[in-house]
Amino acid sequence: MNSPVRTPKKLHIKTYGCQMNVYDSERMADILRPLGYEMAETSDDADLVVLNTCHIREKASEKVYSEIGRLKEQRGEKEARGGGRMTIAIAGCVAQAEGQEIMNRAPAVDLVVGPQAYHQLPELIARTTRMKGERLAADFAPDAKFDALTAERTVTGPTAFLTVQEGCDKFCTFCVVPYTRGAEWSRPVASILEEAKALAAKGVREVTLLGQNVNAYNGTGGDGQPSTLAKLMYALAEIDGIDRLRYTTSHPNDMGDDLIAAHGGLAALMPYLHLPVQSGSDKILRAMNRKHGRAAYIDLIGRIKAARPDLALSGDFIVGFPGETDKDFDDTLDLVRTVGYASAFTFKYSPRPGTPAASMPNQVPEAVMDDRLQRLNALIVEQQQAFKETLVGQVLPVLFEKRGRYGRQAIGRSPYLQSVFVEDADHLMGQIVPVRITALGNNSLQGALLAPVEA
Ligand code: 5AD
Ligand code: SF4
Repeated sequence: MNSPVRTPKKLHIKTYGCQMNVYDSERMADILRPLGYEMAETSDDADLVVLNTCHIREKASEKVYSEIGRLKEQRGEKEARGGGRMTIAIAGCVAQAEGQEIMNRAPAVDLVVGPQAYHQLPELIARTTRMKGERLAADFAPDAKFDALTAERTVTGPTAFLTVQEGCDKFCTFCVVPYTRGAEWSRPVASILEEAKALAAKGVREVTLLGQNVNAYNGTGGDGQPSTLAKLMYALAEIDGIDRLRYTTSHPNDMGDDLIAAHGGLAALMPYLHLPVQSGSDKILRAMNRKHGRAAYIDLIGRIKAARPDLALSGDFIVGFPGETDKDFDDTLDLVRTVGYASAFTFKYSPRPGTPAASMPNQVPEAVMDDRLQRLNALIVEQQQAFKETLVGQVLPVLFEKRGRYGRQAIGRSPYLQSVFVEDADHLMGQIVPVRITALGNNSLQGALLAPVEA
C-alpha cells in the first residue's frame, strides 16, 4: 500500500509588541516545524494561526479582539472552499492576563497559551483537534519552557535575538509586565552559550540579548555561582563568529559597575544603550515607583559615558502619568535636553486594569497628553537628527543584513543601530565592512564603501 503524501500544514504567526514577542514567535515556529507546520505569509489559507499578543497599553490589547473577528471570517471562507479547518491560538501577554476572558468572550478561539507555556503548544493543539481537555495553559515556569526548547533554531540573517532573562520584580505602578511575565528569572549561562554557538554556526554575527529586566540577569554560571550580564557577555564574545552584542531592556538600578565597565572594555558590546527613565520629574518617578530619582539617572548616564564616550542613548518616556503637571512635564523635557538621546520611544499613559496607577487620582486629560506627546516627540526628533548628523563623514563598521529595493543596494546597521543604505554592496551580506557615512536619510543613513570590497 502506498503511504499517503503528507502535505505540510500552514502556520501563520502575527506578532505584536516587543522584541521578546518576536523571539517567542520564532521559537513557537521552531517547536511546530517538526509537527509539519511551515510558515505562511498570510492567515487566509493557514491551518493554524497564532496571535502573539501584547498587553502593555490598551490599544495593543484591543487589537486582539478585532483580529479574532477577522480570522473567524477567514476560517469560514477557508472551510467553505473545502480548505479544512483553521485553528486559532492566542499567545502572549493578553493570553496570560485575560486567558479565561478570551475563552468566554471569543468562542472562535481554540486555545490560549501564556508566554511561559509555549512548549505545551503541540499538546494543546492535539487536544483542540480531539475537542477535549484543557485548552488554556498559562503557568509561570520559564525554566520548564527553556528546558523543553531545543537549541535548534531557524535563522534568517546575520542578527538574532536571544532571551536570557524574563519577568520583572520592579512593579512600576503603571506596568502590567510583573503580572503578565511573572517574577524575574534568568536562564543558566550554559544553555545561553549553547544557543549562541548554534546561532553562530548558522552565520549569526550579532546577538541582542533580551529580557524585561535584562541587566538584572543573574543566571547560574559554570562554577555554580550566579553570573552577571557583563560576565555572560564576555563569555559570549569568546564564541567564534559572534562579533557584536547588544542587550535590552534595562532598569537604571541594575546597571552594575562591571556592566558599566564592559561598555568601555568589551569590544563586541555595541555603543548603544536603551535605558528607560520614563519621566524627568522626581515627584512622578516616585509615584511610578521607579526607585530612583532624576539626579541618580543623570549621574549614571555620566558614568556610562565616561566608560564609552560615543555611547548612543535611547529611552522610553511616558507623558500624562496621573498627577503630571506642566512643571513635571517641563522636568522631562529638561532631562531629555540634559542627557541627549539618539532615539527614544514615547507613550501616552494608558491605565492598565489591576495596576496601582490606574486608580490614582488626577488622571491627565487626553488633550493634555496629546499636546505633551507632540512637544516631547519634536524634541526627540531634533536630537535624533543631531545625533545622526554627527555621524556624517565618519567611517563606521556596518553589518549588512538584507538587500535593498533598488539595484545592488544593501542595508546594514551601524554600531549605533541606524540602518545604513549602501549601493553596490549586495555581495556583502552577513559581513561587517567599513562604510563612509555620506548623508542622512529619513530614518536612516546613506553610506558608501571605501573601495570596491570583495565578497
Ligand atoms: N502606559 C503607557 N506606556 C507604558 N509603558 C509601560 N506601561 C505603560 C502604560 N501603562 C511603556 C514604558 C515601558 C515601555 C515598554 O512601555 O515606557 O518602558
Ligand atoms: Fe514594567 Fe520595566 Fe517597570 Fe518592570 S521595570 S514594571 S517591565 S516598566
